[in-house]
Amino acid sequence: MCGIMGYVGPQQAATVLLDGLRRLEYRGYDSAGIAVANGAIAVLKAEGKIDRLQAVVDAVQPPGTIGIGHTRWATHGAPSDANAHPHTDASGKFVVVHNGIIENHQSLRDELVESGNVFTSETDTEILAHLVADAYDGDLVAAVRSVVDVAEGAYALVVMTEHEPRKIVAVRRVSPMVVGLGDGETFIASDIPAVLHRTKRFLIVEDGEMVVVDDSGVRITTIDGDPVERDVFVVDWDAGRAEKGGYEHFMLKEIYEQPAVVTETLTGRLDQDGSVWLADVTFDNDYARSLQSVWFTACGTAYHAGLVGAALFRKLLRIPTYVEYAHEMRYNEPLVGSESLTIAVSQSGETADTLAAARQARSQGSRMLALTNVVGSTLARDADDVLYTRAGPEISVASTKAYIAMLVAEYLIALRIGRVRGDVDKDLAAEIALGLNQLPGLLEEVLAREDAAIAAAEQIVDASDVYYLGRGLDYAVAMEGSLKLKEVSYLHSEAMPAGELKHGTLALITEGVPIIAVATQRALYDKTMSAVSEVKARGAHVIAVAYDDDVSIDREAHTVLRIPTAPDLIGPIVAAVPLQLVAYHVARMRGHDIDQPRNLAKSVTVE
Ligand code: G6P
Repeated sequence: MCGIMGYVGPQQAATVLLDGLRRLEYRGYDSAGIAVANGAIAVLKAEGKIDRLQAVVDAVQPPGTIGIGHTRWATHGAPSDANAHPHTDASGKFVVVHNGIIENHQSLRDELVESGNVFTSETDTEILAHLVADAYDGDLVAAVRSVVDVAEGAYALVVMTEHEPRKIVAVRRVSPMVVGLGDGETFIASDIPAVLHRTKRFLIVEDGEMVVVDDSGVRITTIDGDPVERDVFVVDWDAGRAEKGGYEHFMLKEIYEQPAVVTETLTGRLDQDGSVWLADVTFDNDYARSLQSVWFTACGTAYHAGLVGAALFRKLLRIPTYVEYAHEMRYNEPLVGSESLTIAVSQSGETADTLAAARQARSQGSRMLALTNVVGSTLARDADDVLYTRAGPEISVASTKAYIAMLVAEYLIALRIGRVRGDVDKDLAAEIALGLNQLPGLLEEVLAREDAAIAAAEQIVDASDVYYLGRGLDYAVAMEGSLKLKEVSYLHSEAMPAGELKHGTLALITEGVPIIAVATQRALYDKTMSAVSEVKARGAHVIAVAYDDDVSIDREAHTVLRIPTAPDLIGPIVAAVPLQLVAYHVARMRGHDIDQPRNLAKSVTVE
């Protein structure tokens, strides 16, 4: 996610802003910039690390004690100097930084271009600078308010103008923002760590609020202008913990970000009736109808997302759909061709094997869709179509929120293709849309049950092997649950389709061996329970993941991780979360370096 800064006070703003941006580096970014006002506004920005921006700032040394700053993590337009924030209107007198997504950016841009505005970047943010300038009539607060009325989406926005040179106006619509209260100075930041070394006293800005900062201090109102009273929040975290939003590890923070991530992934893309808009998925309806096969290719967690995608595509679209590990596909002489769509799934978009498999599929005539989290990544640049997952930077090596975002994105692609081909009728499309829109709430409910995951973790923390079972979509989710446990707890674990158990693995099931059974697929429920009975008969300790309305599971399992009742198609996404929490807590109990597991790397850019 992008990082935002603002400063009004007696110090040189450039120094304060750069220092704050460095402290937001952990959020991940690809470019950075600042704007400092001293009568006129100086804007300085640079692609790449903050050291590059520092060099630019050192050369210019912009004077001024009020300013705004930003670290950008690309969502619209590749990382570049031009796309870095701050952005200005044509006169350069209005300057904005922004975090989040403007849903209706295309129509707003079209209108602005039509009325003669010239754009210098590909970002949705620049629209805001033009809009504020157009709306300005001597009152920056009123201009920003009118822009927020038309700019739909989830974002945080900070604005400054030469016309009111000692004022900053900021708005929070969903995306986070805090105000730091110094001695005769005020800071705005997207996160507490940016200024924690300068003050421990904060005002937490809530969704739908506006902040006006000037030399007299800070005023919080609703966006409509009604005054808001806010208690000062005194932070007693150290800097390391503050970076993690108060969580002990990035992995846990990222698990808790998942409801918001699902909202981001869906924002502006899905209608209630199941219609989808995927801006960079450009194949036409004839192409969708002509498809003969779909290939998912990926590695690691992304491969497990591919397993879910393939199960979903087969179920919904009735198209032969295959999943291949990228490192296998590239040497397997895959039968992929011009009648196939290859979906390469990669959080980073830089995994060497995935890039190679995707290129090979393209060279054999297949269209290639990149499903990735990183805008402008190599995979995205290689692709014919791109669907960005919008999970924000993921810092923990073990992937959680990027995985959930991949699953949600796969449902969107399935809807896009299925509606055209007629495999997904209106009712089913609306049912899936409803399920996806309910997902953030369902995930919140699961997170509220973390204690149950801790209790389950206690039951397996001393085991030497853990087995995960599931069928259909549940098997795909079980695979990821097992990988998560392996990665962070270093426990041996395996996942298998429940029906496969008695063809070998049952020999390993003895008294006390933990089994984690995922049971969200109603049509396969009895089959999964037969496998559960088989392991129980050998003394296994069974932990099940099952819906709240499952009345028989307590008879089958020793421990039940309950998840809110959901449709079969959505349940597996919900079931993934308690499995992440179990893995996390086992690792924590075993005292491991959870965010940096031994021997593993976040992005594997060699074969
Ligand atoms: C590494 C990471 C995994 C990740 C895999 C694929 O192994 O440790 O968490 O799933 O690479 O990465 P990608 O960026 O292609 O999704």
